[in-house]
Amino acid sequence: MLKRALGSTGIDVSVLGLGTVKIGRNQQVKYPSGFELPDDKAVIELLELAQSLGINFIDTAPAYGSSEQRLGELLPNRHDWVIVTKVGEIFEDGQSRFDFSFDYTVSSVEQSLKKLKRDALDVVLVHSNGNDMDIINNEPVFDALQSLKDKGLIKAYGMSSKTVEGGRWVVENCDVVMATANLDYDDERPVLDLAEKINKGVIIKKGLQSGHADKASGGSGVDASFKHILGLPGVSSMIVGTINQSHLRDNVSVVNKILSPVNPPLSS
Ligand SMILES: NC(=O)c1ccc[n+]([C@@H]2O[C@H](COP(=O)([O-])OP(=O)(O)OC[C@H]3O[C@@H](n4cnc5c(N)ncnc54)[C@H](OP(=O)(O)O)[C@@H]3O)[C@@H](O)[C@H]2O)c1
Repeated sequence: MLKRALGSTGIDVSVLGLGTVKIGRNQQVKYPSGFELPDDKAVIELLELAQSLGINFIDTAPAYGSSEQRLGELLPNRHDWVIVTKVGEIFEDGQSRFDFSFDYTVSSVEQSLKKLKRDALDVVLVHSNGNDMDIINNEPVFDALQSLKDKGLIKAYGMSSKTVEGGRWVVENCDVVMATANLDYDDERPVLDLAEKINKGVIIKKGLQSGHADKASGGSGVDASFKHILGLPGVSSMIVGTINQSHLRDNVSVVNKILSPVNPPLSS
């Protein structure tokens, strides 16, 4: 699996990353069908398979239920992975709430370090509640992240943003942005264009429309989605969530084929 630079962070990530909502949380999620959380054996097998296929990049968050805890306990060759986690969203008793205060941000990162069994976190993103510019203008969360970076506790930071204005601010002022792009949603393209221009890391989320891109769910197709996203400017990696080994194998195979030198990605 091809690796790309995550902007100017000095971190290289596989073009396909693994999203881990589905190993930790099955309430209040937007997938086409319900599911049971996989048991430990299934999670270990999935992670081993991902690594054997060349994936070195994994996305988690405190808001993904037991995801961070399970990764800390089950991730094979723990130090060979680049892990993205987040701050700001708390999911408890089936409900999300948000806290972007300085103290909460610091304590959330301390908790993530413990759960993930790391001395430092690779990438920490602010988990936006949708009001990107309100968080940016009125909350001290980015000051807290900068102070954690100054102390060496995190290597890079940014935001999983939801607006063009917020995404562009993140590109200009942070290391990494996580943006949405898929066959049905191209609104955040200006964020990608700017990131490419000034060499900032871009991680794409919801590239398969949380599973709704699958033809079986009435969508335009998984292969077409990958082709579209890998043809967009500035993309370092695309995080796809799956707990299905066969989907994981298929996804890696499609991405490798699209990126193969004899078959360059088509821009859509
Ligand atoms: N605000 C945020 O920060 C935010 C929000 C959303 C997501 N994320 C991150 O981005 C990751 C991806 O987002 P997402 O999980 O919402 O959506 P996604 O990656 O677009 O789609 C995941 C869904 O697609 C299905 N899928 C995967 N490969 C498939 C294939 N080959 N054929 C058919 N179905 C397939 C998966 O089901 P199976 O398990 O059956 O394969 C899963 O239900 C998340 O895990 C998370 O890490 C971040």
